[in-house]
Amino acid sequence: MFQKINRFPDNFLWGGATAANQIEGAYIADGKGLTTVDLLPTGPKRNEIAMGKLDSYKPKEGEFYPSHQAIDFYHRYKEDIVLFAEMGFKCFRLSISWARIFPNGNDLEPNEAGLQFYDDVFDELLKYNIEPVVTICHFDVPVNLVKNYGGWKNRKMVDFFERYTKILFNRYNKKVKYWMTFNEINMLLHLPYIGAGIVFEEEENKEQLLYQAAHHELVASALAVKACHEIIPDAMIGCMLAAGCAYPYSSNPDDTWKVMEMERESYFLIDVQSKGEYPGYAKRFFRENGIELQIEAGDLDILKQHTVDYIGFSYYASRCTSADPEILKNFTDGNIFGSVVNPYLETSEWGWTIDPKGMRITCNQLYDRYEKPLFIVENGLGAQDILLENDTVEDDYRIDYLDRHFAEIAEAIQDGVDIIGYTSWGPIDLVSNGTGQMKKRYGYIYVDRNNDGSGTLRRIKKKSFYWYKNIIANNGNQYFQE
Ligand code: BG6
Repeated sequence: MFQKINRFPDNFLWGGATAANQIEGAYIADGKGLTTVDLLPTGPKRNEIAMGKLDSYKPKEGEFYPSHQAIDFYHRYKEDIVLFAEMGFKCFRLSISWARIFPNGNDLEPNEAGLQFYDDVFDELLKYNIEPVVTICHFDVPVNLVKNYGGWKNRKMVDFFERYTKILFNRYNKKVKYWMTFNEINMLLHLPYIGAGIVFEEEENKEQLLYQAAHHELVASALAVKACHEIIPDAMIGCMLAAGCAYPYSSNPDDTWKVMEMERESYFLIDVQSKGEYPGYAKRFFRENGIELQIEAGDLDILKQHTVDYIGFSYYASRCTSADPEILKNFTDGNIFGSVVNPYLETSEWGWTIDPKGMRITCNQLYDRYEKPLFIVENGLGAQDILLENDTVEDDYRIDYLDRHFAEIAEAIQDGVDIIGYTSWGPIDLVSNGTGQMKKRYGYIYVDRNNDGSGTLRRIKKKSFYWYKNIIANNGNQYFQE
């Protein structure tokens, strides 16, 4: 009676995902302004700056800023896109650098050279039938807006962002049909400088400011959805969540409640973007924590009327937590938010929990909650690679990680989850957002560049390159064989 789903959808968007600052380089070329992520050095200060504890308004002598050259995609995009096409990519996710388009963020006219660059990249992708998937804001805020307006603390950001998004939709309306507003919007609560261009002053009420900034981003996101729907009616625009299911450490109900609280800290943002209103649990949290959001007349209607078309999310790892402070001490790293060590699971070289089944669980949970198509826009294994003398990289560990995750995505599809695409993170090695390192590699394509910026930037295909090519060529059918 009920037919088995036995394949990935025919038009499934296989591809890879990147972010402007992690690949482009050319950080002040052709009129581009500085953005927050251009001012994240490698080394111990990186994290403090990312968290908004230290200001960073201009490059400082003696510091190394890996994004300034990154992997020089700005000048090498044609060569890179040839390689993506060879793998059979159906889509490529990239972000637009806000400061290439509006160097100061509050300029009245856009920078034509910046607009032209993305036009050229989109044309090149479309030449190979690769659908561009565009993140409007992937962790970057023009520094002028940080310095003179306080970043997303300030309501004026909503207007600047609206001007920026409308320029993009009008300019690329024929070329881009998949959009996303803020990358991992929930990161703002953990890395305020990266997520919202926020640097804290000593005396400021941090929590109040963070949630106010979140409200501004939510309104800006809804206005972007509105503009996108008006200007490009046949496009889809989504939100983007740093996801990863969470497990209670034990069957103690207190542990399960802890999980729920932890997940809701992120979910409330997507609840607003997808369902159009603040959930009751968020209102209670604000009330009980003395957070008074400044909500302008009309904001709630904007949120209600302009909800997203799909849920974009990253999944690298699952998490585990406990209500017991002793258990909490046994911690391991993760994509910003770490986790209690899960005794059932292994971790990557960077301590991120590896949990393929968690991918299936996450897909099911998100679909149950939102009942909207899902787009897996980041996933992958950051690992150290060894370039062999015969110019290859035997990255079987990466293949194994991806293989096990693809098998679970296939299960989720059989569970009835509507998944429209999958873009693995960093299909070509790029600068790590968390550490600024090059040696934390995700790619199918190796880039000859080291942590200190040395290297020829030469591109080399890894073993996983051919493996992924084969998966795409078969539209993942291997995961449906009995
Ligand atoms: C996500 C970000 O949080 O994880 C990416 O959207 C980032 O920008 C990716 O690069 C992987 O994290 P990392 O720290 O390994 O680069």
